[in-house]
Amino acid sequence: MTDPLVIFTPSGKRGHVAPGTTVLAAARQLGVDLDSVCGGRGICSKCQVEPAFGAFPKHGVTVTEEALSPRNAVEDRYDRIRGLAPARRLGCQALILADAVLDVPPESQVHKQVVRKRAEARPVVMDPATRLHYVEVAPPDMHEPSGDLQRLERALAEQWGIPNAKGDLRTLQMAQPALRKGDWKVTCAVYGDGPEPRILQVWPGFYGGPIYGLAIDVGSTTIAGHLCDLATGDVIASTGLMNPQIRFGEDLMSRVSYAMLNPGGAAQMTAAVRQALNALVAQAAAEARIDPALIFEAVIVGNPVMHHLVLGIDPVELGQAPFALATADALHLWAEEIELRLHPDARIYILPCIAGHVGADAAAVALSESPQLNDELTLVVDVGTNAEILLGNRSRVLACSSPTGPAFEGAQISSGQRAAPGAIERVEIDPVTKAPRFRVIGVNAWSDEAAFPPDTRVTGICGSGIIEAVAELRLAGLLDASGLLGSAEQTGTDRMVPQGRTHAYRLRGDILVTQGDVRAIQLAKSALYAGARLLMDAFGTDTVDRIVLAGAFGAHISPRHAMVLGMIPDCDLAKVSSAGNAAGTGARIALLNVAARRDVETLVHRIHKVETAIEPRFQEHFVAANAIPHASDGFPHLDPLPEVTFNTEGGRRRRRG
Ligand code: FES
Repeated sequence: MTDPLVIFTPSGKRGHVAPGTTVLAAARQLGVDLDSVCGGRGICSKCQVEPAFGAFPKHGVTVTEEALSPRNAVEDRYDRIRGLAPARRLGCQALILADAVLDVPPESQVHKQVVRKRAEARPVVMDPATRLHYVEVAPPDMHEPSGDLQRLERALAEQWGIPNAKGDLRTLQMAQPALRKGDWKVTCAVYGDGPEPRILQVWPGFYGGPIYGLAIDVGSTTIAGHLCDLATGDVIASTGLMNPQIRFGEDLMSRVSYAMLNPGGAAQMTAAVRQALNALVAQAAAEARIDPALIFEAVIVGNPVMHHLVLGIDPVELGQAPFALATADALHLWAEEIELRLHPDARIYILPCIAGHVGADAAAVALSESPQLNDELTLVVDVGTNAEILLGNRSRVLACSSPTGPAFEGAQISSGQRAAPGAIERVEIDPVTKAPRFRVIGVNAWSDEAAFPPDTRVTGICGSGIIEAVAELRLAGLLDASGLLGSAEQTGTDRMVPQGRTHAYRLRGDILVTQGDVRAIQLAKSALYAGARLLMDAFGTDTVDRIVLAGAFGAHISPRHAMVLGMIPDCDLAKVSSAGNAAGTGARIALLNVAARRDVETLVHRIHKVETAIEPRFQEHFVAANAIPHASDGFPHLDPLPEVTFNTEGGRRRRRG
């Protein structure tokens, strides 16, 4: 008689196993992803499977009720204490007696896929560096003297195939009482990224979780964190706060200057950012109602200046050619080395940097968006105070960074503010009446709709609002291609109000879009476009297939308005998408999947860096990109824009052509 055939779904993996093999052993034999924390002792319930019965012509088998051994005492006990659904079996207890079809539900898969909202996004498969392992340790024996830690390490090697797991003094202090309290049965949290797995925690008896990890994106303006469950991959809290280093300078270069000009300046900024990181940890833990000591690891990404300051390294070298990084490689640290208060033995992984101006945040964006996995030529623009830009496809990937300044975030704008309730975030201007309508953060209705509360406090205009406002002014013929706002006489609307020798558009009350605002946006968008254009030159192309807008506020930019403004090159609008905080997502991927860390470490070496600061064509592209949308590059995917030209005297309107 042939051995029973066992088929696992959804993987479809199949094979013959000896009768009496446990489902867990069969899964291991056939390379099926079936979880286990207790090593098959009937304690953790992670190995649950759902047997199916009947005829399966697709698989060529008929499965009877006798396929598996009847429920045993361990399963009955588990059912009594914790509950086991009637259709479910514990894989480590059920024996295969005849042909079987077994479904592995998502929660029993070790490498379950984490759901990402965007269909085109790279899938994330759970394979975190920190895992729980239940072990039974040999009790001490006078005839074979050995230490508790050595016997614990041996148990991990023998029962879990983890050789060389090492503990430190804290492990010793934990292990001694835990082993005795648990009657020589303990659960260890083992961090497995690196040549020497580290035992981070020892619990007496069985501990089934939870354990957590934190993915952190340290931006120049904001710091964002995603607290994740390391078993499920679920984000259990997403939180953010302002980077307190803003008081030392709005943008990166002013912070580097602060470090150059003030003795001890870099140390002051390091202290400020580390304090903020600890506030972020506390905030995320409070939001999720968890103990921060259960956070066993964190992944940190940031631009090169933030990267250095978090690490306590002076960033002055990044402010001058040749822009030398202290290190470009990924880093593995203890949390206490950067004074981060997580679990006392928590590990930190810092993504590699790409170059002196293109940091671990850009590497994280590359990991999240993975242009190297696509045939389409993809331009990824991470819009923030500094724009990180990637261009590539399967053949190669290029990267640069461009100093856009904080205008896109509402700074340097007369009525600008950060995105917060009360800020205008969307703007439309009627091309005929020239009247505006807008939406305010915190209110769903547009300002001209009946549902718009008349007492709404409108406090200013945020980054996405100013981008839309300038683009709408251009579309409504109130702004010419050179970026000049027309006068009331030139445009025929008294919404244009004089301001010295220039004019401003009255959006609402004293919230104006001034000529200075338009200039600030022009400078920012020219820097962004010039960076993208440099990469396109280096790639030898004039067009791209797809554009991804990333960055915390990239999610709020309307692709059409971005293109009307000439922030991004021409592209089919259906192919322009928003990725949200892609750097934060990249950090999360590296937190949940160790192999992704190796991928990004390899990828950064393949990325060709273009240095905007020394590239002579940058200035040329910058000047041409000053026009709205552009002095010479065509935008065939946009409808033609109004051909108006104003002069600074505010005289009669002239039409071109
Ligand atoms: S492997 Fe833990 S209960 Fe089966």
